[in-house]
Amino acid sequence: MDDFKGKVALVTGANKGLGKQLVRRLLDHGWTVYLGSRDLARGKAAVDELQGPGRDVRLLVLDVTDGESVTQAVSHIEQGSGLLDLLVNNAGISVGGHHPSQTDIEDVRAVFETNFFGPFRLSQAMLPLLRKSETPSIINVSSDLGSMGLIGYPDGAHARTQLFAYQSSKVAQNGLTVLLAKDLYAEGIRVNAVNPGFTATDITGFRGDRTVEVAVEESLLKYALQGKDGPTGGFFTGRGSLPW
Ligand SMILES: NC(=O)c1ccc[n+]([C@@H]2O[C@H](COP(=O)([O-])OP(=O)(O)OC[C@H]3O[C@@H](n4cnc5c(N)ncnc54)[C@H](OP(=O)(O)O)[C@@H]3O)[C@@H](O)[C@H]2O)c1
Repeated sequence: MDDFKGKVALVTGANKGLGKQLVRRLLDHGWTVYLGSRDLARGKAAVDELQGPGRDVRLLVLDVTDGESVTQAVSHIEQGSGLLDLLVNNAGISVGGHHPSQTDIEDVRAVFETNFFGPFRLSQAMLPLLRKSETPSIINVSSDLGSMGLIGYPDGAHARTQLFAYQSSKVAQNGLTVLLAKDLYAEGIRVNAVNPGFTATDITGFRGDRTVEVAVEESLLKYALQGKDGPTGGFFTGRGSLPW
């Protein structure tokens, strides 16, 4: 399949988990993909695994919490491709206690640095390259644990879940999604939040009830492959829209 030949994507935090699987599937569709990894050796190992004839995967050492690293990433893609069609803000962490009454503020700051300020910083920095694309799009990899509609009401699906730092960072990331989508609407740059569902990866201690293959196929890849007529300012999972 090379239906997206010439399209250029960046996936952050792609040395493992959902990010790596998304890179694999974008390569299957002919994309040129910058595989973001904050660690050089882990990134190289992922690139070695995913590369092959006709598969254009490029290692990009990128720590989304580091402004200098982000600046260098912009130059690297500018020099290598001159534009960016798809930015996937996938890098994410979850640390700290479960309940807000018992969570250390430094843990909350650390999670926000990666899950909220990272996507904010990177989306802003990549705008000049996205503006050169005919089909520019940003996907923020979110979570149903960041849906106020699901966590905020007694009968909501996650009413009893308490993972304070992580959940509040994803609520904030959802706010970024809505406001950035409105901000960039007139320029035709689409911005959406996509929830992959509870998946067996490091971040869940491999307790998720679905594989990365299924999660990526049903959600992240589906929204990554949408063209310029696709939605913007939405919050989606495999089965459709989620409440904010
Ligand atoms: N798994 C689920 O059930 C689930 C559900 C909903 C949403 N999500 C979201 O899906 C995304 C991917 O998570 P995953 O499940 O694939 O977890 P994962 O296997 O733990 O992958 C997380 C990735 O983020 C990277 N990362 C962490 N901090 C970073 C930083 N400062 N800069 C760049 N990369 C960084 C990690 O790199 P290192 O290897 O160097 O640590 C790793 O590559 C996250 O945003 C997560 O919140 C996951």
